[in-house]
Amino acid sequence: MAANDNREVITVADPAAMAATAAEHVVARIGANDGRAAICLTGGSSPKQLYELLATEAYRSRIPWQRVHWFIGDERFVPADDPLNNMSMARTAFLDRCAPAENIHPIPTATADPGDPDRSAALYEKELQSFYGADTLDDARPLFDLVLMGIGPDGHTASLFPGGRAIDETARWVVGVPKANVAPFVPRVTLTLPTLASCREMLFQVAGKEKRAILTRLFAAENLPANRARSTGDTVWLMDLAAIPENFGG
Ligand code: 6PG
Repeated sequence: MAANDNREVITVADPAAMAATAAEHVVARIGANDGRAAICLTGGSSPKQLYELLATEAYRSRIPWQRVHWFIGDERFVPADDPLNNMSMARTAFLDRCAPAENIHPIPTATADPGDPDRSAALYEKELQSFYGADTLDDARPLFDLVLMGIGPDGHTASLFPGGRAIDETARWVVGVPKANVAPFVPRVTLTLPTLASCREMLFQVAGKEKRAILTRLFAAENLPANRARSTGDTVWLMDLAAIPENFGG
């Protein structure tokens, strides 16, 4: 994996402006691909406004739904209809109303072997490899057009937690995470850094004053998962004014 060291930081006024800016990135990345496009969604609360915006007529009419496929970067190991399930949140917010069912690719959490996030990870890895048409990632042919990400209070991103084994995984595409660092304390399944990196753009959304402390640490270049997640293409951090640390840029 040759991750790109450049990171672009965009600041916006508030969460509404963040959702609108992110929506333009989604539309632009889909528009830049004439064929089958792949978007990797994220969980948490930050992307919800973006998802709801994509379902409004203004955006819905600009997305060629038939040729866009929707994946998820990490999942809480709970049933598909549990409100804590990340794909369930995205389905309710927009996918179920807009996307063909066969274009929605959830991480299976109700597998033949329930209670085993590793098995679930192996199944999703197969699904991603079958979509990609190979089991080795090629920098010249990214898996995703866009990967959405969030940042947790401990500097985690996707379900890659500081000090966990998953962050150093380079062979597997998807792994099980037995223990989460932050709530909800359920096992997780997460795409690994090389898989998330295989994209034309990785777009982080970080909003609210409760994110200031972790952004201060990240901008001080602390070795935390959110600082290690980079696209082989463009990496963009979208932050709202409330999240910006006091000494940012000065
Ligand atoms: C999850 C996520 C996680 C999230 C961050 C930020 O399953 O919780 O995918 O990585 O993106 O924790 O979450 P917020 O957007 O809620 O701050």
